[in-house]
Amino acid sequence: MKWIPAVSKRTMFIYFILLFLLYLFYALNTYLVDERKLTQKYLFFKRHISNYTSVSVRFASFLGINIGEDNNYQSQYPVKRLPDALIIGVKKCGTRALLEFLRLHPDVRAAGSEVHFFDKYYQKGFEWYRDKMPTTIKGQITMEKTPSYWVTRSAPKRVYAMNPSVKLLAVVRDPVTRAISDYTQSASKRPSLPRFEDLALVNSTVGWGGIPSVVDATWPPVRLGVYARPLRRWLRRFPRTRLLLISGERLVADPAAEMARVQEFLGLKRVITDKHFYFNSTKGFPCLLKSESRSIPHCLGKTKGRSHPHIDPTAIERLRDFYRPFNERFYQMSGINFGWP
Ligand code: A3P
Repeated sequence: MKWIPAVSKRTMFIYFILLFLLYLFYALNTYLVDERKLTQKYLFFKRHISNYTSVSVRFASFLGINIGEDNNYQSQYPVKRLPDALIIGVKKCGTRALLEFLRLHPDVRAAGSEVHFFDKYYQKGFEWYRDKMPTTIKGQITMEKTPSYWVTRSAPKRVYAMNPSVKLLAVVRDPVTRAISDYTQSASKRPSLPRFEDLALVNSTVGWGGIPSVVDATWPPVRLGVYARPLRRWLRRFPRTRLLLISGERLVADPAAEMARVQEFLGLKRVITDKHFYFNSTKGFPCLLKSESRSIPHCLGKTKGRSHPHIDPTAIERLRDFYRPFNERFYQMSGINFGWP
């Protein structure tokens, strides 16, 4: 009779397993079917399912199969997605202003800080990148801005590998003021930095007015203003229609008009208008009447819109002469005459 308790133990164990499986099956169904019973835990579970669904949709579209992204999970619950649009540059041209203005749109969600995925952290993989993104619901655009992508040689290829239909935005500005802005930022961190003129111009041949006549094209603040070179790299991968070039000057002079172009390019309803901006004469820049995070009028932080040091006009002239042919090339390639002096 010793075997009776042994069998009942085994039977009880089997019953327990069966009951557990039954519960698991029921629970899964409840989570997936009954939307109203969602709790934090269920939502977490569904978000993971959505992430994997989204990966499979992308993989299928890579193979040329359209399995459709319009499912319940993606349309109703916020999930993290890879960016649909990127602000790829250019450093010190107004990239923060552009991102903050875009954030006014209810259908745009953007990562707060620069992610640097395509230049520094590419080895971490797309799941790491996705995790840095804000959550979005269907119809919302996921965005990120990292200005160094503009000059990262491998960035166009890597961005293309993520999504060949991604929309690219780049703000450009008169390269001379851009260089001064870049220098001003560095000097604010290192007050002992030599004068702008001494870094931008090489000391070999002293020209008229005692100012060296040769521009140091290797100094990064100068080099970054040669926009034609990086533009060629991006246009080797992406058609011109996928890249919107935004004038940094117009973004300051008429932010609403420039944002109208941006919204059209991104396929968004025109929500951001001149009602969102006011000109702050103390700062000398357009500021926001309210934003997603603040309901009172405010300007961008004090690191944006700094006052620049006085630069010798002869040095400015030398730089203008240096940039002129590069600017011409850039106007030709982009099909836009930005009218820089
Ligand atoms: P300065 O601070 O040298 O004037 P980025 O965000 O790409 O670093 O660019 C910074 C530049 O954005 C600023 O350079 C400023 O000229 C420009 N900018 C454009 N619109 C602005 C705004 N509404 N408020 C402040 N700066 C703005």
